[in-house]
Amino acid sequence: MNKAVDKINPLKIQDNTFRDGHQSIYATRMRTEDMIPIAEEMDSCGFHAMEVWGGATFDTMHRFLGEDPWMRPRILKKYIKKTPFAMLIRGQNLVGYRHYADDVVRAFVDKACEIGIDIFRCFDALNDFRNMESCAERVKANGKNFQGAFCYSLTGVQLGGEVYNLEYFVRKAKELEQMGADAICIKDMSGILSPFDAFDLISAIKKEIKVPLHLHSHYTSGMATMTYLKAIEAGIDVVDTCLAPFALRTSMPAIEPIVASLRGTERDTGLDLNKLLLLGEHLESIAPKYNVHLPTHKLSIIDNGVLAHQVPGGMISNLTGQLKEMNALDKLGKIYEEVAITRKDMGSPPLVTPVSQIIGAQAVLNVLFGRYVRVSNQLKDLVLGLYGKTPMPIDAELTKKILKNYKRGQEPLSGRPADYLEPEIEAAKKKMGDLARTEEDVLAYILYPATMEKFLRSKYGIDSSKSSGVENIPKKKVAA
Ligand code: CO
Repeated sequence: MNKAVDKINPLKIQDNTFRDGHQSIYATRMRTEDMIPIAEEMDSCGFHAMEVWGGATFDTMHRFLGEDPWMRPRILKKYIKKTPFAMLIRGQNLVGYRHYADDVVRAFVDKACEIGIDIFRCFDALNDFRNMESCAERVKANGKNFQGAFCYSLTGVQLGGEVYNLEYFVRKAKELEQMGADAICIKDMSGILSPFDAFDLISAIKKEIKVPLHLHSHYTSGMATMTYLKAIEAGIDVVDTCLAPFALRTSMPAIEPIVASLRGTERDTGLDLNKLLLLGEHLESIAPKYNVHLPTHKLSIIDNGVLAHQVPGGMISNLTGQLKEMNALDKLGKIYEEVAITRKDMGSPPLVTPVSQIIGAQAVLNVLFGRYVRVSNQLKDLVLGLYGKTPMPIDAELTKKILKNYKRGQEPLSGRPADYLEPEIEAAKKKMGDLARTEEDVLAYILYPATMEKFLRSKYGIDSSKSSGVENIPKKKVAA
């Protein structure tokens, strides 16, 4: 990289401390009250954007923190006035765990715009961008920034092979630009993008697209800081980082060493390192209450295994939990092998929510009961095409076996998945009865029926011990 500073092209930074940072290492448990004391200072750092919402925040806020998920961006906006807010949205999955009908997607995105989200980083687990169309349409209609992301995955141990080669990713980037993306993001959720592959990948994509290119990577395997450096050399426009106390491990690379490393180069970030250090001190002061979520069973903060099996950290904890329940923790090694086989059988999808959970759960069933003897309904839906098109076709014989007698269909579907879904909002309102007081309540309930019912009962002071179902509540005035 040129050290002569006649030609400055500053690297831009998206700060993910308030979302992916604590989601990755503190189980998404950071409270809004702990963000407020540094919010104004964060705003003055000069970040390109701050990711503050989406991903698992919506789930954990109402389930574990007793916070209304819709309120966080509104509250933070009072303190953070200059820096655009970014969120992570899983296309037709929004921030839940299944595909929602178009009426829900449209209303959710409109609401997210209203509460202060400026940049929508949108992805689909299968890189089937038809699952992002409704989302993109509403983001654009609201005059907000649509950032199209594709999931980075590998066929073997490095870039290349029959599925995840350079041509595949360049094609995906071009598809996103053609669908109107204002920026494109390489989403390396498992931290498997290696430095030299990143250089080739970013160089190739930059030649083909005009919009800014972002890199989102996780430190999980220990490569991400090196990967960022090569990405920066290749001309990446924006990288995602966290402040040090919320960085590394399965989180993003830390911002501070990047700012220091680039000083005086043509990619100098121009950010004030001392200010970042002070912000880090605040986070250190609140971190002890979140430390309980850090894994303590091993000394190493990196996971070498991920280089071999590509299984992201969140998925490993799910698998371990599932195995514990079934008293089969000794089978973990076998499960990793089976995950690779199940994934290949299912058309080699990237391992990301919700597909990673579906593949992981099926791999457990395969090891315990024999291959595809017991099959989850989610896996049947995947084979049926309800999640979209898998990167590679699924074997016809296996498809037949898995879909045999399945009530939702036995012949694979090829249309846009959401086209098979009936509108959901009106039906949900009816079901909720008195709990449907605002549009936000209804949308949240559609995403998380059981836990939101509990949350809303407590929010409105409705005694849940006297009735077993929402329908039983005496009807009061129901707001639209
Ligand atoms: Co991430």
